[in-house]
Amino acid sequence: MKVFKDYYNNEVTLSFDDHPFSKKPKHVWVICRYDNKWLLTHHKDRGIEFPGGKVEEGETAEEAAVREVQEETGGHCETIDYIGQYYVDGKAGKIVKNVYYAEVKYLEKQSSYFETYGPVLLDKLPVHVASDAAFSFMMKDEVLPSSLEIIEELPFFR
Ligand code: GTP
Repeated sequence: MKVFKDYYNNEVTLSFDDHPFSKKPKHVWVICRYDNKWLLTHHKDRGIEFPGGKVEEGETAEEAAVREVQEETGGHCETIDYIGQYYVDGKAGKIVKNVYYAEVKYLEKQSSYFETYGPVLLDKLPVHVASDAAFSFMMKDEVLPSSLEIIEELPFFR
């Protein structure tokens, strides 16, 4: 379990155990790869980030994760794996979010990418992402580097 402050100084608690904070989290975030590159989206307000969003009524968190990848990047997931869960204690309330790792098999061009400008492919994530104004606040706390440590050790990571 790791406890740290996010970009907005809200407290975040991150764990790589099996759903430690909620069995039915309402938010998902998906660290994606496609064609040996990182696949992100460009959110219209927040900037570049991995895709994600809210779990809809009647949907599992994993289904929401697959849907969000498709809506925000046009990516169709080949694999999706639960990595961990975090809890943000913010001014606007508390949220619990699942982190997934997905490998995308193909990208389909879409007429709408919802609240984003669509896919962004990067060979490497910038070292100084936390101070890069092009990137979303979600990319700027310990969740990303800690999750990447786990993902890059997965036997099927490429
Ligand atoms: P909409 O309801 O879709 O307009 O979004 P919202 O930003 O108002 O609400 P949401 O429930 O998605 O998030 C509420 C607050 O929780 C945000 O304003 C952030 O402060 C925080 N939050 C949401 N997602 C994350 C995240 O991935 N990381 C961190 N650190 N904070 C988050």
